[in-house]
Amino acid sequence: AATSSTALSGLNTKFTAKGKLFWASFSANEAILESEFGAVTPENSMKWDATESTQGTFTFSGSDYLVDWAISNSKIIRGHTLVWHSQLPSWVSAITDAATLTSVIQTHIANVAGQYSGKLYVCRPLPLRPCILTIYSEVLNDNGTLRSSVFYDVLGESFITIAFKAARAADSTAKLYINDYNLDSNNTKVQAMVALVKRINADEQLIDGIGTQMHLSAGGSSGAAAALAALAEAGIDVAITELDIAGASASDYTTVVDACLSTSACVSITSWGVSDANSWRASSTPLLFDSDYEPKAAYTAVISDLS
Ligand code: G3I
Repeated sequence: AATSSTALSGLNTKFTAKGKLFWASFSANEAILESEFGAVTPENSMKWDATESTQGTFTFSGSDYLVDWAISNSKIIRGHTLVWHSQLPSWVSAITDAATLTSVIQTHIANVAGQYSGKLYVCRPLPLRPCILTIYSEVLNDNGTLRSSVFYDVLGESFITIAFKAARAADSTAKLYINDYNLDSNNTKVQAMVALVKRINADEQLIDGIGTQMHLSAGGSSGAAAALAALAEAGIDVAITELDIAGASASDYTTVVDACLSTSACVSITSWGVSDANSWRASSTPLLFDSDYEPKAAYTAVISDLS
């Protein structure tokens, strides 16, 4: 496993002292994950194309590896992502019948969430009540309308309720999140997300948290505090779920950390990867560790911010 030659300071230990949790998406940098992060999210291995590429045939090799690693290293796990219009097998996209699609969503979630509902016990003694599942990723357009996808086009808004109810049935104690991008300032999409969550949770709390991905560019963190405060108006937890900042200066990172610290509803930050070597945005060097797995100025700044 890749490791850093520079002494590290325990990023998650410091963040936990402030009542929050620092996560990373799972990658090859296991030694750094072990020392610096308290929780892991599968970057791809729990998605629909990885777990049910053929209808009714479930494959858990990649996600089992992550879950086993996390349990043996006492890390909290976020399941990501049960329903998303992207990385979706074509057999799902081709469904045109509402009853069939409902049953397909329910079967997928029962199997994937069900695979781990007993195995995530390691999360439960920890204070933040994690065992988190991201149920729906990227449901909204930037103008606040619901995105066209096979799910919305065939089932209307009810697909969200169908998915969250299926996840609750599969794992009664996991926190269930809805997750989206461009929720980086108090914009139209943020307001639409808050309205959507309030609408769906009106009769019964199905959604426990909102994830704002925060794939930012340099300077783009200035709206983060306002975004988190506005999202908190939905009355449930808020988490930064996929943070990376293209061309970040150290202060871009501390601005995001400070935004979470100043918002009591903000429970965690997840770095979307560990090292620039493995980032999906590698060319923009957006992470806290460089491609030689050494901590960057942004890492040092975050540590001193938390000290
Ligand atoms: O699995 C194949 C592999 O067999 C093949 O050899 C290789 C060659 O390119 O491709 C592999 O698949 C890639 C996969 O990552 C695993 O590396 C896909 O092409 C690539 O598209 C995929 O990218 C992922 C992306 O989601 C897909 O949309 C990124 O790693 C992942 O970081 C990114 O994460 C998403 C979040 O889940 C949701 N929010 C947005 C975020 C960024 O797109």
